[in-house]
Amino acid sequence: MRIPFVSGNWKMNTMVTEAEKLILEMLDGLDRIEGVEKVLCPPFVSLVAVNMMLRDSSIKLGAQNMYFETKGAYTGEVSPLMLSELCEFVILGHSERRWYFGETDEIVNKKVKAALSNKLKPILCVGERLAENEAGKTKEVVNRQVTTALDRVDSVSDLVIAYEPVWAIGTGKAASGEQAAATIQFIRDVLAKLWDKSIAQDLRILYGGSVTSANIAEFISHPEIDGALVGGASLKAEEFVSIVEQTAKIKGRIR
Ligand code: 13P
Repeated sequence: MRIPFVSGNWKMNTMVTEAEKLILEMLDGLDRIEGVEKVLCPPFVSLVAVNMMLRDSSIKLGAQNMYFETKGAYTGEVSPLMLSELCEFVILGHSERRWYFGETDEIVNKKVKAALSNKLKPILCVGERLAENEAGKTKEVVNRQVTTALDRVDSVSDLVIAYEPVWAIGTGKAASGEQAAATIQFIRDVLAKLWDKSIAQDLRILYGGSVTSANIAEFISHPEIDGALVGGASLKAEEFVSIVEQTAKIKGRIR
C-alpha cells in the first residue's frame, strides 16, 4: 500500500521571514490532514528556521538540491551530510537544475547515491522537454533518466520519483491525468525491469507541473499517481492545503 505523498517545492522564492509567515499560514491546516505524507521544500537559507517550526508537526522537510560530496573545498555548495541534520528529503534532478545548471544524468546519479548514503530520501525528478514530447520521445527520455539516475543504487525503498514534463512546469499547461498516468505506469514498468515487480509496485511516483487545487483531483484519481510535486501553488497556503486535503479524500484516507 503506497502512502500518498504531496510535496511543495518553493523554488527560489521566499525570504526567511516570508517562509516563516507561509509556514504559520499553512501549519495547522496541513498538520490536521492524516494519511498523506506532507513535505515542504523551502530554500536552503530557510531550512533551519522552518525545521524548528515544523518540529512538533506531522509535516516533513526537504531541500531542493545538494552536492554529491560530503564535505571539503567546494565553495558555495551544500552537502548531504549538512542536510541530513535538518531534512528527511531532497529533490534531485529537477529540470530547472538540469537545464539551467547543466546537471547531467550522471551527476544526478552521483547525487542520488550520496543522498541515500547520508540517510536522505531523494525525490528524483524526471521528465521530457516539449520538443522531445512532440517527437514522441517521452518514453525514451524518461527511461534514460530513470535508468541512469539509479545506476548502481543498492536500494530504492527510500526513493520517491516525480514525473514532471518540462513543458508543464510553470506554464499553466498541465499534462492530462491520462498522459501523466500513462508515463507513470511506464516508469513503474522500467523499475520492474531494473529491480523487481514488488519493488516497483511499492515505490511512490508523483506528477508535477502546473498542479493547482482546481486540477489535483484529475491526477490523483488515477491509482498509478501517488501524489504531486507542487511548485507555484505551494506558495499559497490555502491552495496548498486544499491540494493535500483533496489528495487525502480521493485516496480514501479521510471522509
Ligand atoms: P509548477 O507547479 O509551478 O508548475 O512547478 C512544478 C515543479 O517544478 C515542482 O517541482
